[in-house]
Amino acid sequence: MTDAYAVFGNPIAHSKSPLIHAAFARQTGQDIVYSALPAPLDGFVEAVAVFRRQGGCGANVTVPFKEQAYALATRLSPRAQAAGAVNTFRFESDDLYGDNTDGAGLVQDLTANLGLDLAGKRILLMGAGGAARGVILPLLERQPDGVFIANRTASKAVGLAQVMGAGKSLSAGGYADLSGQFDLVINATAASLAGDLPPLPEAIFAPDALAYDMMYGKDTPFLSFARERGVRTADGLGMLVEQAAEAFLLWRGVRPETAPVIQLLRGV
Ligand code: ATR
Repeated sequence: MTDAYAVFGNPIAHSKSPLIHAAFARQTGQDIVYSALPAPLDGFVEAVAVFRRQGGCGANVTVPFKEQAYALATRLSPRAQAAGAVNTFRFESDDLYGDNTDGAGLVQDLTANLGLDLAGKRILLMGAGGAARGVILPLLERQPDGVFIANRTASKAVGLAQVMGAGKSLSAGGYADLSGQFDLVINATAASLAGDLPPLPEAIFAPDALAYDMMYGKDTPFLSFARERGVRTADGLGMLVEQAAEAFLLWRGVRPETAPVIQLLRGV
């Protein structure tokens, strides 16, 4: 019988995950089906239970259910524990295993696809919500010079840094606390959704910096801001495909090649 997987989110209709996993399955010869399943905002737990009862093998979880998924899991990977959020379930006979592949996906995109060596780099992470939290430890593991978390509500950034082990290489504050230049600036805020630009200082980018927006699918005020200053930019499509590849690896024991799938999605 074909193994079934799904992604749960709300909204979910425009998810690219079914396309990505179908491409992975073709490429690796794995016999799976993968669907995007809507879950009502107050019905996530029930939707997962139904899919599991119907014989599902695992699932991805996206906005706004990642924290609920974390609470629902009965066993967590260390990286899901650190992120406080789950984006990948594996249904096991005794456990609902929760993992988080977002941070690994971002780091893989930055290093393998975009050719950035994070060691010794100054990284600015904008935002202190779930999207930011999930990537902090994977970034720190690459031994940057430091990660500064900047957030509109400064106290939230400071609190997050404390939870994640603030110290020499991890600090936080508001945008007004920013000083110096950064080699990598990551937008993990929801500002782009509202067409807003976080209040970045004019001279924030170091020479040869990369501006990375976790959003994909449309140009954002942050990427325009960077481009206007001659800075290299990247959207979050590569991260999306890489986090999916990590989930596929967890489920199927084989890591698909991501470059052809990224190209497919970009339509090139
Ligand atoms: P997610 O789980 O996707 O990270 P979230 O928890 O709602 O979503 O967090 C959204 C983040 O975007 C927060 O860091 C938020 O800043 P506040 O904590 O101050 O609310 C940030 N954000 C949202 N809109 C923003 C804007 N217009 N300018 C700057 N930051 C913004």
